[in-house]
Amino acid sequence: MQIPQDLIETATLKLKSVQSEAEFFQLRSQYLGKKSFIISAFSKLRDLDPQSKASAAKELNILKSKLTKLFEDSLASIESIGEHDQLDVTLPADPYLIGSEHPITKISQKVIDYFIPLNYQIFSGNEIETDFYNFEALNFPENHPARQMHDTFYLNSNSNSNSNSNSNSNSNSKSEYLLRTHTSNTQINSMLKEDMPLYMLSPGRVYRCDSDTTHLPMFTQIEGLVVDEDVTFGDLKGIIIDFLENFFNEKMEVRFRPSYFPFTEPSAEVDIKFGNQGWLEILGCGMVHPNVLKGCNVDTKKYRGFAFGMGIERLAMLYYGVSDIRDFYSSNLDFLNQFPS
Ligand code: PHE
Repeated sequence: MQIPQDLIETATLKLKSVQSEAEFFQLRSQYLGKKSFIISAFSKLRDLDPQSKASAAKELNILKSKLTKLFEDSLASIESIGEHDQLDVTLPADPYLIGSEHPITKISQKVIDYFIPLNYQIFSGNEIETDFYNFEALNFPENHPARQMHDTFYLNSNSNSNSNSNSNSNSNSKSEYLLRTHTSNTQINSMLKEDMPLYMLSPGRVYRCDSDTTHLPMFTQIEGLVVDEDVTFGDLKGIIIDFLENFFNEKMEVRFRPSYFPFTEPSAEVDIKFGNQGWLEILGCGMVHPNVLKGCNVDTKKYRGFAFGMGIERLAMLYYGVSDIRDFYSSNLDFLNQFPS
């Protein structure tokens, strides 16, 4: 009987290229199944004479057990190929990239998080506003520079037929609608709508004709307004200093510099010492002007108020160490990816 000597070698080689369990079992039946050389050789043993029968049987048995062991050993690694195809539901899911919060949103939220526990309610205001809410009710005089076309974006209004004639010298010829220049319009909106006492905070976008490395035509402010009995400038100072120290998480040098806003009296601008940059202006504030309270039907014998307004981009530039305000709105992923959620 001719017994091929390379049976183990060829089986080993073929096993190496097996890719699936199905291929493995097909190969095994080729070498060890009913029609395989080994099994049919056993049935042919009876045709041999006793002596060659004994030696052939011995040889065949050794070959069969070697082949069986070879297939047994490789079954384990074949099964692990199969496992790769299976779904392991215990594995953590692949992260689904949907971007992250914008740094300005993050800083706004950080400010809001400070005031919420103090019972300030969030008030959303209008970005398109009338002169009344943005200027008049806030005690701006008729000819205040902020009301000029070069500082404020006025919207084209069809209802105003001669809106373009003589527009710089006569405020009545401007459109009725404008893009609010500050969030202080929400002082009027909220006082006319809500009952006193009032604790409100209003984040949102504001617009001015301005553009350089520290100014944008669109930016973000957060307005705060408190109207209650016995409210003092001391309360205002206390809350602003505590807020700033909380925000920057360190003891701060804070300066209240006398200033002027038509809607507050007295008014102040708040500066902080930050790093080695000297004094930096961070917000405007003051006691709500009685004209403003009266215009909103607030009883000035009973109530007084303070208000403040801060620029979020400025806070974010200091907080994150950003030197060009335009980076926030350039949609540059290399920049934005530095602020993961
Ligand atoms: N609205 C002012 C500004 O944009 C800031 C301010 C808000 C000042 C509230 C006083 C009170 O500069």
